[in-house]
Amino acid sequence: MPRPDSETVVEAALGWVGDRDARLTVLDLGTGSGCLVLALLSELPRAFGVGVDISAAALEVARGNARALGLEGRVRFVRGDWGAGLRGPFQVIVANPPYIADGDLDALEPEVSAFEPRLALAGGADGLDGHRAVAPWLAGLLAPKGAVFLEIGAGQGPAVAAILRRHGMQHVETPCDLAGIPRCLVAIPKTRRKDRKKGLESGAIPATVDPR
Ligand SMILES: C[S@@+](CC[C@H](N)C(=O)[O-])C[C@H]1O[C@@H](n2cnc3c(N)ncnc32)[C@H](O)[C@@H]1O
Repeated sequence: MPRPDSETVVEAALGWVGDRDARLTVLDLGTGSGCLVLALLSELPRAFGVGVDISAAALEVARGNARALGLEGRVRFVRGDWGAGLRGPFQVIVANPPYIADGDLDALEPEVSAFEPRLALAGGADGLDGHRAVAPWLAGLLAPKGAVFLEIGAGQGPAVAAILRRHGMQHVETPCDLAGIPRCLVAIPKTRRKDRKKGLESGAIPATVDPR
């Protein structure tokens, strides 16, 4: 299940959805073990999910986790490069792209660096390459009343918000983790009024999930 950092993303998404009985679709970009989408589906019994990862090995783990949790009927794991080839709309998009700056990789705790592949961690020179790669897909895959929940590294909030703005999204909230560090960036399409009531309105139509 999600690491404490990622729990901020899950909690933020659940808080935004509000009604746990909502029928909606969740997209998890860079799903890894599937922890984000599976945690959400565990709490949202009428939701369906798609998890995307470029790593076939990660997808095998995710599928095994879905079976172990009895969620395999409500989730599909597909191999892909972020949003390429996906068709939305999704009401909830979560992503935890790699966000460790290359120069900081050597300083990671051995229990992280020894077990996580570089693909899952390395975010380029400034740590933001993953967010730059994910951002262009979001507005096109998001349902009109949907929201995006991105995990961020400490201090990355303003830079990630600026990246999102360049791709038609506006940042609306930055929930913190248990240590008080801003850990999740919540964003909606720029075209939507910021003061709009949060959450899905009743009767929201679930998307047709057609990942390929
Ligand atoms: C930081 S890990 C997040 C894993 C999981 N979502 C979590 O929160 O623990 C980033 C994930 O992004 C995946 N990834 C890296 N590049 C990708 C790409 N181009 N397209 C899709 N997934 C990618 C990695 O394989 C890895 O599983």
